[in-house]
Amino acid sequence: MKDFFGREISYLRISVTDRCNLSCRYCMAKDTSFSENVLSYDEIIWACSLCAEFGISNIKITGGEPLVREGVCGLIGSLKRLGGIERVTLTTNGILAEKYAAKLSAVGVDSVNVSLDTLDGGFYSEITGGGSLGRALRGIEALEKNGICVNINTVLHRRKDIYPLLEYVRSRNTNIRFIELMPIGEGARYKPVLNSELKSEFEELVRADFSGTGPAEYFSAKGFKGKIGFISPISGCFCSTCNRIRLTCDGFLKGCLCSGEEIYIRDKIYNRELFLKALENVIENKPKGGFFEGLSEISNKRRMNSIGG
Ligand code: GTP
Ligand code: 5AD
Ligand code: SF4
Repeated sequence: MKDFFGREISYLRISVTDRCNLSCRYCMAKDTSFSENVLSYDEIIWACSLCAEFGISNIKITGGEPLVREGVCGLIGSLKRLGGIERVTLTTNGILAEKYAAKLSAVGVDSVNVSLDTLDGGFYSEITGGGSLGRALRGIEALEKNGICVNINTVLHRRKDIYPLLEYVRSRNTNIRFIELMPIGEGARYKPVLNSELKSEFEELVRADFSGTGPAEYFSAKGFKGKIGFISPISGCFCSTCNRIRLTCDGFLKGCLCSGEEIYIRDKIYNRELFLKALENVIENKPKGGFFEGLSEISNKRRMNSIGG
């Protein structure tokens, strides 16, 4: 279905939990409280089957950290079997990826994005609230060994982390995407490293054969098997091609990450007519975007862990 601005909405991001086994400093505050009553898998599957009727074909499972919720691989398998759903992907911090890689492969996940902001173990632990870099790296390896396509998500805190990360992905068949930190929730406390500046630093490396359909623009680079991507909500707004809506873990549909507008749909999931009406409303009224041009217009009050990025 198209929204008011003619954008075809085909992608649903679902936060299956707002809990996480890390607490990245730009995502969760120390006093973060969690939802007691998250959507059940049955509710999520029903909601997705109805969304598929309206042209949603691509589903992203996020969190918090989705792998801390038991049974998430089974959910992915069920979503993969729904009529009209073409892709189901996962975004994770990788800490539990070693444990679940074989299962994820067996249920047919289409790709897995793993957050990796630095390769400095001490700094990784500092920015993730005590996380183990070794575990995240073993997670990435296990995913790759199980034949899963992996994308690395990097929100840079320090420019000096770029080069070790590029070395890390150089010979792997892995894309790396540099993401500009957004002033959402805790993210508002830090200054982003802008991709417009990074790109000029990479000019030699990055050959201009732009590709990609989501927020990431991808480039191939000499000597790299994978691609180098940039997700630039601040310096390169991609709202005019935004194809997505979101389902929060506590049962609200959200048209945009930055907007506080949301519709409670948990009580409508088993009533096809009411649910589709609410979905139509969210898609039709999806905000135009451009929120990072005038930050005061960001009305979203949620932290990233309950929206799912
Ligand atoms: P795929 O390429 O389909 O795997 O999706 P993705 O890159 O959108 O997913 P991922 O969950 O890895 O998110 C990467 C970054 O993009 C995160 O920082 C998200 O918050 C951000 N992001 C995803 N969708 C949007 C969006 O619609 N608007 C904005 N501003 N940021 C988004
Ligand atoms: N801005 C940009 N990206 C963010 N993420 C979490 N918070 C922010 C933010 N404020 C990223 C994580 C993860 C993905 C789901 O979203 O690093 O890779
Ligand atoms: Fe957890 Fe992801 Fe938030 Fe980090 S960014 S605390 S890994 S949900």
